[in-house]
Amino acid sequence: MPLSLPPLPWRSVPAAMLAALLVVAATPTLHAQPGQPPLDEAALAPYGGYRGLGMMTERFVERVTKNPRIGHFFKDVEADRLAALLTEQFCAVLGGGCRYTGKSMREAHEGMKVRQADFNALAEDLQAAMTEAGYPQWAQRRLVARLAPMQREIVE
Ligand code: HEM
Repeated sequence: MPLSLPPLPWRSVPAAMLAALLVVAATPTLHAQPGQPPLDEAALAPYGGYRGLGMMTERFVERVTKNPRIGHFFKDVEADRLAALLTEQFCAVLGGGCRYTGKSMREAHEGMKVRQADFNALAEDLQAAMTEAGYPQWAQRRLVARLAPMQREIVE
């Protein structure tokens, strides 16, 4: 017997679609990106949530690329891609629930001859971007402290 479905109330279809759209739009972002685990919004709250963290990171990348001390390292780098990977990484180290999908720090910086002074210049740009974003000092210190151990993988 062919499967028969109840007739659709066609007139209500556009209304139902609109309602579904509104629900989707109003639902808080639970995933950073498709394929990413759910976010821990509480861990990211001091950073303006995932969105705030992403905006701060974009400003940070902008500073780094314009910095006369280290900008040359980034001249062939696609800023949007770097900012997206850094946002994932920052979110992950802050316990925000993201999965970092980029290269290891050793792999990403191998052969670049990044010196301690370069590292310090980048750290200053990060702090300036966080201050500009209005992050409290303790939250700034937390992110810096979680990135600091990566120095030995990056600095040659
Ligand atoms: C704690 C400090 C740092 C962190 C957390 C960090 C993180 C990252 C990340 C996540 C990537 C992307 C990796 C990928 O492409 O998969 C990257 C790439 C890169 N980093 Fe760093 N980095 C740091 C320090 C530095 C410093 C001090 C410099 C130079 C002054 C630098 C220069 C670069 C460049 C040029 C790339 C692009 C490489 C490419 O696209 O091939 N990084 N970094």
